[in-house]
Amino acid sequence: MRGTMKHSTKRGSAEEQVRSTGSVLLQEIRRPGGFFLALVVGGTLSYTRRFESVANYIPFIVPYLVSVLTRSVVRLKGRRREMLLDLPAYRRDPAFIMDCEGRIVASAGETEALFAREGIDHLDQLLQGPEECSAGSALLGDNRDKPDYPFYSPVTNRWYSVQLRGDRRESDWLVWLDDVTERVHLEERKDALREFTHRLQHELLERETGHSDDTRLAQLLLSEGYQAVMLARLDAPGDGPVPGGNASAHGTVYTADGASHGPVTIAAGAEAPIMRSRREGRAIWDDARSWASRSEFERTYPVLPDVAAILGSPVLNFANYHSGDVSIIAFNKAGRLNSGDIAILESAADTAVTAFSLLDLARRADRRFIQSIHGVCAAAEYSDELTGGHIWRVNDYSRHIAETLGLDPLQCEELGTVAALHDIGKVAIPHLIKLERSLTGDEREEMQMHTIYGTQIVDRMRITSGESDPRLQMASEIALHHHQHWNGTGYPGLIADDGTMIAPRSRDIATYRRLRPAREQEIPLPALIVSLADKYDALRSCRQYKPAFSHKKVRDLLARDDRSGLVGAEVFGSEVFQAFMDTHRELERIFQEGQTEVLCDSEMKP
Ligand SMILES: [Fe+2]
Ligand SMILES: [Fe+2]
Repeated sequence: MRGTMKHSTKRGSAEEQVRSTGSVLLQEIRRPGGFFLALVVGGTLSYTRRFESVANYIPFIVPYLVSVLTRSVVRLKGRRREMLLDLPAYRRDPAFIMDCEGRIVASAGETEALFAREGIDHLDQLLQGPEECSAGSALLGDNRDKPDYPFYSPVTNRWYSVQLRGDRRESDWLVWLDDVTERVHLEERKDALREFTHRLQHELLERETGHSDDTRLAQLLLSEGYQAVMLARLDAPGDGPVPGGNASAHGTVYTADGASHGPVTIAAGAEAPIMRSRREGRAIWDDARSWASRSEFERTYPVLPDVAAILGSPVLNFANYHSGDVSIIAFNKAGRLNSGDIAILESAADTAVTAFSLLDLARRADRRFIQSIHGVCAAAEYSDELTGGHIWRVNDYSRHIAETLGLDPLQCEELGTVAALHDIGKVAIPHLIKLERSLTGDEREEMQMHTIYGTQIVDRMRITSGESDPRLQMASEIALHHHQHWNGTGYPGLIADDGTMIAPRSRDIATYRRLRPAREQEIPLPALIVSLADKYDALRSCRQYKPAFSHKKVRDLLARDDRSGLVGAEVFGSEVFQAFMDTHRELERIFQEGQTEVLCDSEMKP
């Protein structure tokens, strides 16, 4: 709201004062009448008394100087009176004359009384400057011609726009203030409403969940100075925007102390204002002080007993508006309600209803997305050698490791949703999944192709949905890279001799034989996380070719693989492996809680 201004120096103001006062003196010195009068008087005295040396000139100078000074003072005072006369005879807002250093030199009427009462003799005592700048510097500095922002006065507790009359050659300034407090408050409310809208948009875009939209709306309204705000939703929204007396509503009352109370039920046909507003389809607001008696006000606008109990004090004013199936009723605003308050209430309700609808749509779309992911994963798990919730646990481990790494909460949530798709490519090699013997070399190579098939399947999902959902992009990268190793000893081969990564479109194993695997930063971080999560759960689980290992043994194997001799940082990167070591107990908890398969080995004990 406040602008920034350059600081003027006090030295500059003082120089200007000398120049302004000097200009008046200079004008008087140049007056021909004064000069000749001094010449005649001084010459006469000099001739009759015959003074010697320098004393001969004194009679010339003294009367002349007296004349000049007298006229200058009279002119300066006259101008101040003249300036004050320019003002309307009666002004409620302060008006006064100040010199070029901000000292108040003249005032009249109510302003004079105010200054006398508060002991004000300088502009800086009356007004605060913008930000760190004093009012005097802001108004009398280099930018003084354009003080187009409001100044706050701690003396009157009001905001003023400041008008100045004068110029750089003058030593005095006529200052008059116009009260713009209402405008400033309205701007502040608009800012608050804008911020509220942005917060809802942010939530919508970020797909955050678990926060109460109603609470946010109530907090915004309470910050407008109400004692309590009730938000209610119709139980029968199908009744239309003006449902008449056939619908009841449930509401929550939020109070300025941060508490929420409810639900409060509003019965169908209740005479509370909330139902009257619905019936009449408009905002209703009133103030008990506008009525002859409070009892008459209370009879006209009966308050629900529950709400009255929560308020603990009589209703002095209220404002009620509804939009869609959301009703807002705000109680006891400090001071009197005005049309600006109602505009804010209406705007808040309309914005909230639109945002709530969009949020609802986004959340429904989210649920559908998760449902389809779960469906695909369940189908894949059905034919996999792993049963008992392996892929769901990989989701949970991955989310937890990502959180430990300090990734963005949204990214953690997304990873915890799509990590389960990592082995989706195995649906393309059902003949290898349940073999009860060790794989041959060729079979092992074909098995490794599940990474390529997986990314192709997920990419097909992306193309079919016609959207570039970042979650499917992440899932595609995870499927492709979750068997890569940080030191470049994983699979599949993807990197050409010139260092570029090929697009994995081919289903031909030979295509990938010629290429080297990805390594280090070439591997997306989510894939490294899922790689560790996948391996932890596979080692902990019973397979046809191995028993289930204990948590301690798996931790040791991840730290150093006894067959390959690779240490954890070489496989998963030091960052991801360290995150595992920092939080491995949590993975153990997830395994125990998510364990549904029949345990097949005594080593299951942690
Ligand atoms: Fe895999
Ligand atoms: Fe897996």
